Amino acid sequence: MAEDLIINKGSKEEQYKSLLPQIQGLLTGETDFIANLANIAAALKEQFNFFWVGFYLVKDNQLVLGPFQGPVACTRITYNRGVCGTSWAQKETLIVPNVEEFPGHIACSSLSKSEIVLPLFKNGEVIGVLDVDSSELNTFDEIDEKYLKEIIEQLS
Ligand code: SME
Repeated sequence: MAEDLIINKGSKEEQYKSLLPQIQGLLTGETDFIANLANIAAALKEQFNFFWVGFYLVKDNQLVLGPFQGPVACTRITYNRGVCGTSWAQKETLIVPNVEEFPGHIACSSLSKSEIVLPLFKNGEVIGVLDVDSSELNTFDEIDEKYLKEIIEQLS
């Protein structure tokens, strides 16, 4: 396993294309789910320097904070609440250009301005979400959706 991430300085798409095989390399041969979530969060944070990158995992019908990189965060999120809880309930990726305009957004930090949340599936059920937050408005689009989806699909 490579120890150092090679950081790409190109376009967003080029950055994801450089990161994908490196994440694949990090996950190869490692079966521990939490270890793999932790390295995905770290790799995304290192490449893009997002404000917050992390996972919430479904436990006892709540989303509970999992491996992440960034400032301390809310530990529990209710089903259908906030962007994460809504993504879980709808089983859909949500791109929020301005969190202040999202009804019920949970502000773990006032510095977070936009976010993308993708559900993690196992046997058709949502087992958690990947949440990526930005300190800028309008950070995320379908390029992030496409590549983040490819990244989390490597977990299965
Ligand atoms: N903003 C999220 C909560 C999680 S944090 O931002 C780390 C939400 O509304 O679900």
